[in-house]
Amino acid sequence: MITDFSKDPRFNGIERFENKIWLSSPTMHGDEQKWVDDAIRTNWVSTVGANINEIEKQVAEYVGCRYAVALSCGTAALHLATKLAGKKLYGQARPNTGTLAGHKVFCSDMTFDASINPVAYEDGEAVFIDTEYDTWNMSPEALEKAFEMYPDVKLIVVAHLYGTPGKMEEIKAIADKHGAIIVEDAAESLGAKYKLNGQWVETGTLGEYNCISFNGNKIITGSAGGMFLTDSIEDADKVRKWSTQSREAAPWYQHEEIGYNYRMSNIIAGVVRGQVPYLDEHIAQKKAIWERYEKGLADLPVKMNPWDREKSEPNFWLSCMIIDEDAMAPMVRGEQDYLYKSESGKSCPQEILDAITAFNAEGRPIWKPMHMQPIYRTNPFVTVEGNGRGRTNAYISGTFEDVGADIFRRGLCLPSDNKMTPEQQDVIIDIIHRCFL
Ligand SMILES: Cc1ncc(COP(=O)(O)O)c(C=O)c1O
Repeated sequence: MITDFSKDPRFNGIERFENKIWLSSPTMHGDEQKWVDDAIRTNWVSTVGANINEIEKQVAEYVGCRYAVALSCGTAALHLATKLAGKKLYGQARPNTGTLAGHKVFCSDMTFDASINPVAYEDGEAVFIDTEYDTWNMSPEALEKAFEMYPDVKLIVVAHLYGTPGKMEEIKAIADKHGAIIVEDAAESLGAKYKLNGQWVETGTLGEYNCISFNGNKIITGSAGGMFLTDSIEDADKVRKWSTQSREAAPWYQHEEIGYNYRMSNIIAGVVRGQVPYLDEHIAQKKAIWERYEKGLADLPVKMNPWDREKSEPNFWLSCMIIDEDAMAPMVRGEQDYLYKSESGKSCPQEILDAITAFNAEGRPIWKPMHMQPIYRTNPFVTVEGNGRGRTNAYISGTFEDVGADIFRRGLCLPSDNKMTPEQQDVIIDIIHRCFL
């Protein structure tokens, strides 16, 4: 049964929001216009200019790395970071072959596909590592299992979901033990802090190759854009070269390596330049939203997306919740559709998302784990118990633990827009309560 919320007495008296409450929308402050106008007025509208230079300096300073290379998007940054890792590990590839051809790469499983698609762009095979419940990120235990199964793997792609740092101390120690290197996807976690071996550092400095995004829904935005972050001048120079079609030092177009058109434009950089000063303000607003949800939902059989309070300070990009197993109403999902049944005292993610949508607000299902995606359904998947594929037996009863699938099933992303007022958020909290009536 799909509920018609306008006729459902549980929701009597709730008014539809006049203006949509977004999951996470851009927040402009005014200076963006000034720096974009500056680029146009001075005619520096292409992929060089003062805005690019300035944001590369500002972001490197904020994050605490030596070099930042501004690119067209976070996906481009991840592609070049992954390619750089492949080249370092396995040498320069032929122009029609990726640097990871014939090699497996351990990858975060519960993330956006842009984290790990570059492994496929480079002809590698992603091996998905299951998630842990403490931070909803890559499980170090499952990663250790993966090294037992595939000891030759030398590359790990790790993301920080929804702005919450993963267990990087453990993951880095495992990587070091096995001589592997890390591509860090900090697209969602710019400004999040992590205590690494007793020292507070920023996400975006925790891998050998690190990436952030300025996509329209991120904590700060350029409307688009991303960055590659590094302490290595050679790597920064190589990414700059690859991102501008890999021109060699000749008066004509001369190429010895495959190139890309991935550099950021000075106009986009103008938007980013206007946003950087507001990063901390956005984080504070998002944290207040997370805390208001935590308090407002405390009496329900649900929990907020967790984080390690000793070792991390997330940027709280998205607030999420997960429903206790015994309060889950029946829900099934197909490839593109779903069905659920309302039950008193219970609810399910799709019911809550439908209810939120009916009143003109935007939530979202938890990012569907990569090992469940049709495109990657045949890739290896490793859980804390070892191989996560083919785990059931028609003749023997029993279940196995797939943490990512479980969080996807019971969790959802809540409206987390930093322009949502406390009063509007209280209505969202009220709607969620009524779903459990
Ligand atoms: C975890 C993660 N990685 C990578 C990306 C890709 O960034 P972009 O959209 O800037 O290409 C995103 C978001 O878009 C993301 O959420």
